[in-house]
Amino acid sequence: MKAWRFQNAFGLENLACVEFPDPQPGPGQAVVRVRACSLNYRDLVVSKGGYGKAVKPPLTPLSDGAGEVIAVGPGVTRVKPGDRVAAIFMQGWLEGGPDDAKAATALGGAIDGMLAEQVCLDASGLVKLPDHLGFTEGATLPCAAVTAWHSLFDSGRLQPGQSVLVQGTGGVSIFALQFAKLAGARVFATSSSDEKLERAKALGADGVVNYRVHSDWDRAAREFTGGAGVDHVVEVGGAGTLPVSLKAVRRGGHIALIGVLSGAGEVDPRFIFLKQVKIQGIYVGSRRMFEDMNQAIAAVRLRPVVDRVFGFEEAPEALRHLERGAHFGKVCIAV
Ligand SMILES: NC(=O)c1ccc[n+]([C@@H]2O[C@H](COP(=O)([O-])OP(=O)(O)OC[C@H]3O[C@@H](n4cnc5c(N)ncnc54)[C@H](OP(=O)(O)O)[C@@H]3O)[C@@H](O)[C@H]2O)c1
Repeated sequence: MKAWRFQNAFGLENLACVEFPDPQPGPGQAVVRVRACSLNYRDLVVSKGGYGKAVKPPLTPLSDGAGEVIAVGPGVTRVKPGDRVAAIFMQGWLEGGPDDAKAATALGGAIDGMLAEQVCLDASGLVKLPDHLGFTEGATLPCAAVTAWHSLFDSGRLQPGQSVLVQGTGGVSIFALQFAKLAGARVFATSSSDEKLERAKALGADGVVNYRVHSDWDRAAREFTGGAGVDHVVEVGGAGTLPVSLKAVRRGGHIALIGVLSGAGEVDPRFIFLKQVKIQGIYVGSRRMFEDMNQAIAAVRLRPVVDRVFGFEEAPEALRHLERGAHFGKVCIAV
């Protein structure tokens, strides 16, 4: 079987497709014939060697993949050959809160990832796909969707009628938009592109603003909520957008701190304590969250938004497409 791999060094020019023996499952393990992967901004950071010293070659990249179980080892009852599954982002985070041991099990980072024709994983690190989703749609779920779900529901305790601000139209933000709408919330979306904002409206966004045209997009967000500010911010921008988000959020509101897209910025802590804002760092989520999310996705037959599907042999080009930032929703690879 083939797997893409950074053998000796990071950098997309060093990503090579390598032949390996087919994996055999040991006790408690399952082999998955991967059918699709999806890309996350984090995979770009990893591929540039920017994910910390612990993440180093040789490494098969990508956290997100879905496929079919083709073999199981002794003692496996959780899945069987033929099951359609996705791998969970942190293989060791099944339930409860985060800890160091769980964080050290992230696919395509701490351990080899999913950009391979076959992977051998502990069966405990797999979840079944919702029946109505194909492998490509299923492969969009492990990182971006679970992160959005964790942010809104486990962290934010989102209630119907509340307001949610989503930043940009990448993977996490589009899932947050979709989940917030299915929960009966009002969504305010930002983007650098008017055309993408129209697409966000088509998905249910109730208010939109172009953050390139309006750098003070907090004003529009406050207007959207009659002056009070939004209940929740899904903060994927990081240091550059957090100061604006702190103006956009209501007193006592919630910010799920997720990403680093916007580069540098300075945060005035007075905004945090005077407004009594709850800021929660989010790092994907547990298997329990993934399964809760899948139940909701299945109940409303939610369809993830797939921007484009590349071939397995086009993996480096797929990462370059993500880097250009022209996508809307998820970029995928058929395996
Ligand atoms: N902590 C976690 O668990 C976790 C999990 C997943 C992702 N993340 C992080 O969350 C961020 C988003 O990840 P992703 O995979 O969803 O990325 P993505 O799909 O690559 O999203 C990129 C989009 O973000 C928008 N964007 C870029 N700069 C922006 C800015 N300054 N302000 C607002 N929007 C901006 C752009 O949307 P427009 O083109 O519409 O402007 C861009 O197309 C990344 O930093 C990633 O590392 C963290």
